[in-house]
This record gives sequence, C-alpha cells and structure tokens, in this order.
Amino acid sequence: MRIVKIILLVLIFSLVAIAGYVGYVKWALPDIALRKEVKIPTDSASIAHGKYLANSVAVCIDCHSQRDWSKLAGPIVLGTEGQGGERFDQNAGFPGVFFSKNITPDNLKNWSDAEIFRAITTGVDKDNKALFPVMPYMHYGQCDPSDIADIIAYIRSLKPIKNEVENSVPDFPISILINTMPQEAKFVTRPAASDKLAYGKYLVTMAGCGECHTKQDKGKPLPGMEFAGGFEFKMPTGGIVSSVNITPDPETGIGNWTEEAFVNFFRQFSADSGYVAPPVVKGALNTPMPWLMYGNMKTDDLKAIYAYLRTVKPIHNKVELFKP
Ligand code: HEC
Ligand code: HEC
Repeated sequence: MRIVKIILLVLIFSLVAIAGYVGYVKWALPDIALRKEVKIPTDSASIAHGKYLANSVAVCIDCHSQRDWSKLAGPIVLGTEGQGGERFDQNAGFPGVFFSKNITPDNLKNWSDAEIFRAITTGVDKDNKALFPVMPYMHYGQCDPSDIADIIAYIRSLKPIKNEVENSVPDFPISILINTMPQEAKFVTRPAASDKLAYGKYLVTMAGCGECHTKQDKGKPLPGMEFAGGFEFKMPTGGIVSSVNITPDPETGIGNWTEEAFVNFFRQFSADSGYVAPPVVKGALNTPMPWLMYGNMKTDDLKAIYAYLRTVKPIHNKVELFKP
C-alpha cells in the first residue's frame, strides 16, 4: 500500500512540475527586453548601406517579397519589395505554416525602432510573440548593431504596400516550444574589411550560407557536417534540390574553385551583367539559393567569403544535386 502511495505522490509531483514548466514556457516566455537606446540613422549613406545588406547579403528582401518560382532561382517580382506573404510550410519540411510578414512601412509604421530591432535580432515581435526561426534572427543577432540599424533605416524607407499577410500557425508541440527559441543577441563589431578571414566569416553569418548548406536532423544542423551540403528543398516547380558541399574538399566540395571562378559564378547573376532568369519548366532543376540577390554582392565581399570558406574543415560528402 505504501509503495502505491509513493508512486502516486511521485506521479502527482511530476504532473505538477510538467504543468508548471509548460505554463512557464507558454506564459512567461519569450522574455527579451527592448533596447530603448537603439538609434536608427537617417542619412542617405546609411540607408544605402542598409539597402545593400538587406538585398544582397542578409537578403531580407528575398524572403519578404513575392517570388516568381516559374523562373530560375525565383527572382522577386518587381514592385513587391518587402510586402511579405511567402509561404513556408510542411511541404518544405517546416513544422507548421509560416508566412513572411509585410515589412514595408504600411505594416511597421506603428512599431518603434526598438521593437523592429528586437524582432530582427532576437525573434520577438511587437506583441511579445515568438517568431519561428525561418526568419534567421539567430544570425542577425550575431551581427553588428550598426548594420542592423542601417537595415532598419532602409526598410523604413521602402514604398508602403498594403498587403494583409495571414498569421503563421506552428504545429503542436512547436506551437508551445516556439517560445523557447528567441534568445538574447550576441552582438559583435563588424571586422575591418582588411581582416579578410574575420570579415568573410561575418558576411557568411549574416548571409546564412551555413543554414542552407548544412544537412539538418529534426531542425538541428548535423554536428561535423557544417557547409557539407545535402539539405533538401522540395521545389514549387517539382523535384528535390540539395544544397551542395561548399567545404574545401577538392573532390566533393569547392576545393578546386579559384577565387576568380567563385566570384565570377556569383557575379554572372548581377544586375549589371544583364542576367535574365530563364523560365523553368515543371519538373526541371530550380534552386532556392538567392543567386540574383547575392549576385549583386561587392567583389571584395565575395572574395572575403571565399577566403573564409577555404578555412572551414574539408568534408568529403558527395551530394546528389537534383531528384526529379
Ligand atoms: C529565410 C527567409 C527570411 C529572411 C532571409 C528574413 N526573414 Fe523576416 N521573416 C520571415 C518569416 C517567415 C517571418 C514570420 C515568422 C513567423 O511568423 O513566425 C518573418 C518575420 C519578420 C518580422 C516580424 C514582422 C511581423 O509583422 O511580425 C520582421 C520585422 C522581419 N521579418 C524583418 C526581416 C529583416 C529586416 C530581415 C533581414 C535582416 C529578414 N526579416 C530576413 C522570413 C525571413
Ligand atoms: C536558401 C538556401 C541557400 C542559401 C541561403 C545559400 N545557398 Fe548556396 N546553394 C543552395 C542550393 C540548394 C544549391 C544547389 C543548387 C544551385 O546550384 O543553386 C546551392 C549552390 C551553391 C554553390 C554551388 C554552385 C555550383 O554550381 O556548384 C555555391 C558555391 C554556393 N551555393 C555558395 C553559397 C554561399 C557562399 C552562400 C552564402 C552567401 C549560400 N550559398 C547561401 C542553397 C542555398
């Protein structure tokens, strides 16, 4: 009898503890303070710098605009910059249905600078709700606050577009666990461009190259497989494309690419090269890699990225690029 009583007590105790934890996660998290001291610049040089980062490095505008998936690499539809509405759902491997939000002034006009800053760098929105990390806030939280401020200055200058975006709906249990995802930012100072390796690493973090180029298991990057590719994307035009190995492994990675070849590969997609994305027929190879955005990266920034990628651990990992 006594043993039954003890088991019962332990059970009740565990249930209370679990209920307490769930309640804490559900009601007390996320708990990230606003940085009221955030100052957003208004001069044209800062806005231009923010525009460059938001379009060509951090690629905010890539996810927050309408994309034309009938063409290679899904170029954004001109005139939709920042309006949001791109869908990331279970078909693409996400635990729920998530929509990128309207980040033009039409939606953000009632947000304070500190609220936008907190959303971008920690994943907590104006109403203190957690954002799902499709929005790569954990990367932006490792950037220089002045770069984020410039990006905010730029999105504040976007043409306001009326576009009501549906609410994101995470599946259970992510609907509760999502509150544990926002984390305090770990800001750094942007390394000088002359410090090529450190600067290249910084750009790779901001651009989130590792995010797509590392295979994941249940939403977590596989340890030891950083930049080795194999992350699969179901494409709207059909088929599954895998990110490739961008470690310096000569056989399966980009070890044999020269700096020039690397830079030219990106620059072929730049606006000044006159590149026009060709149509993709259903079932043919398409790619989520935002080539048309990164293609406009400055040559020196691409060189720094290349230099840093030469220094990551070479991993032998052959990836099948496309399965129709
Ligand atoms: C990989 C795609 C992607 C990229 C890149 C991206 N975002 Fe997002 N963003 C999203 C998604 C999806 C959401 C909504 C997440 C959710 O509902 O949980 C979002 C939410 C937001 C929000 C919250 C808006 C609201 O109304 O709640 C802001 C602000 C924002 N993003 C700004 C940015 C900025 C600025 C950048 C670049 C520094 C950026 N995003 C880059 C996908 C992206
Ligand atoms: C949204 C996901 C995504 C992001 C972000 C991304 N990539 Fe990719 N990348 C891919 C996929 C998928 C492929 C394979 C298909 C293709 O070639 O486009 C690829 C291909 C490549 C290739 C190989 C080109 C070839 O033909 O062999 C290189 C090099 C590359 N990426 C580098 C980068 C770098 C550097 C970054 C960051 C600046 C980056 N990628 C960011 C998904 C991504």
